[in-house]
Amino acid sequence: MEEKIKQLQEMNAAAELGGGEARIEKQHKQGKLTARERIDKLLDKGTFVEFDKYAVHRCHNFGMDKTKFLGDGVVTGYGKVNGRTVFVFSQDFTVFGGSLAEQFAKKIVKIMDKAMELGCPVIGLNDSGGARIQEGVHSLAGYADIFLRNSLSSGVIPQISAIMGPCAGGAVYSPALTDFTFMVKETSYMFITWPEVVKTVTSENVTKEELGGAMTHNTTSGVAHFATENDEDAILRIRELLSFIPSNNMEEAPIVPTKDDPNRTIDALRTMVPADANKPYDMKEVIEKIVDDGNFFEVQEHYAKNIIVGYGRLNGRSVGIVANQPAIMAGALDIDSSIKGARFVRFCDAFNIPLLTLVDVPGFMPGVKQELGGIIRHGAKLLYAYCESTVPKVTVITRKAYGGAYDVLSSKHVRGDINYAFPTAEIAVMGPDGAAQILFGKAIASADDPEAAKKEKVDEYREYFANPYRAAELGFVDEVILPEDARAKVIQAFELLSNKRQTNPAKKHDNLPL
Ligand code: HXC
Repeated sequence: MEEKIKQLQEMNAAAELGGGEARIEKQHKQGKLTARERIDKLLDKGTFVEFDKYAVHRCHNFGMDKTKFLGDGVVTGYGKVNGRTVFVFSQDFTVFGGSLAEQFAKKIVKIMDKAMELGCPVIGLNDSGGARIQEGVHSLAGYADIFLRNSLSSGVIPQISAIMGPCAGGAVYSPALTDFTFMVKETSYMFITWPEVVKTVTSENVTKEELGGAMTHNTTSGVAHFATENDEDAILRIRELLSFIPSNNMEEAPIVPTKDDPNRTIDALRTMVPADANKPYDMKEVIEKIVDDGNFFEVQEHYAKNIIVGYGRLNGRSVGIVANQPAIMAGALDIDSSIKGARFVRFCDAFNIPLLTLVDVPGFMPGVKQELGGIIRHGAKLLYAYCESTVPKVTVITRKAYGGAYDVLSSKHVRGDINYAFPTAEIAVMGPDGAAQILFGKAIASADDPEAAKKEKVDEYREYFANPYRAAELGFVDEVILPEDARAKVIQAFELLSNKRQTNPAKKHDNLPL
């Protein structure tokens, strides 16, 4: 018996050593944690249970039969995050560069299947040289097996990816199919083809960082949702994200009790939203005033900053928040912000997370670039996302709600449940200046004093439309509220809606305008 136990211990020690001390040291020198260190930090202490620790490849090509590592380059299993079960895989760069092959993929597929059966999130920690070249089509098949499960799991269990090293070629598509992608600054990159290939094909000179670094994907492409300082930061933020979302689409997000008074009035909100429609303000400050303990967990904070999306809690219950940002492009909706908003709304709707929408929007962004870029098609995504969503939806119009953007942003007409407006709200087809010009342009031009004539018409329009009361007369706004009551009012509304049940017509699937 002793001998058998010794054998087991030796095998465990060998598996836990991955590709060996030298490669671990190289990993550390690059500022990266190892696959196992990452899992240790991600999961509650002592909760990790490993699967397939002794798996090895079956490849004989290129002398591979002489080089085997227990575990085959990926650590998989399950454990707990704040007491809730999650499944995890962590690619081990110290073994064959974390490259994905037949057994490696099988291990990932096994935990993905289990996570689906049991309704648990999957967290993938990626650090890999891509398809294991020696295993050829087996590697490609392994990727496809994972892609299939990513797609089938979408909307059933949350899937979170962290990129903590290389992620290139087709390997990028598994993270792309998941719900949230974290990227570690400086040590991670994602691209379809390396800069050398780009240079050969298009003659463009570009660095790895420019083509696919963490900030590139967080600011420009929108591929990633979070940029983190290092591995540890990524892991802590994954844990925090998980606290806002349920484990599967049949559950609700965990309740986190708070001492923050649900009836707390917010005096600062009286002045925070300027009555002058042309003055910018920071909507993030408004959000932080409303949510529990000022704790707002922003998603895609560096991308399409004219819209803000993220999670907060109201009286302990998780909500997804979508808000225009008047401080950037006056909060207008453009292509990128529409896509960002739509993806966020759809995640919340799939996972029973109620939506709070704070509206201050002058409309969709005009311009040739926007029109030729397909603002019609992309703006429709956000509209579609709101129309199809069935979770509780509470809307607060803080100031402007003009044109189609008014309709899109959780208006009554697209099944907003409770719609509030501040007294500063202006709900109209367009702003006073534009409207006066279109309606009275000829009269203004031929007036003795065109300036005075224009002012008169602008004032007349403002008096009539630039307020929340025309919409309130029609029931499109349920209540005009005092800004200081915003927290109490939205909490009251979400409580009312907590048992909301709404369904859409049966269909195979929708045809979201892609
Ligand atoms: C097999 C690989 C490998 C791979 C790295 N290694 N990538 N082994 N298949 N794809 C091995 C190396 O041989 C080396 O082994 C160890 O991992 C560490 O690699 P280094 O090159 O020493 O590390 P580093 O200098 O940090 O460079 C990392 C790298 C580089 C930039 C990722 O290794 C690289 O360019 N790898 C190849 C990348 C690639 O072309 N992959 C295929 C992409 S196409 P030793 O024994 O020396 O430690 C693809 C298609 C997927 O993935 C399609 C899915 C549908």
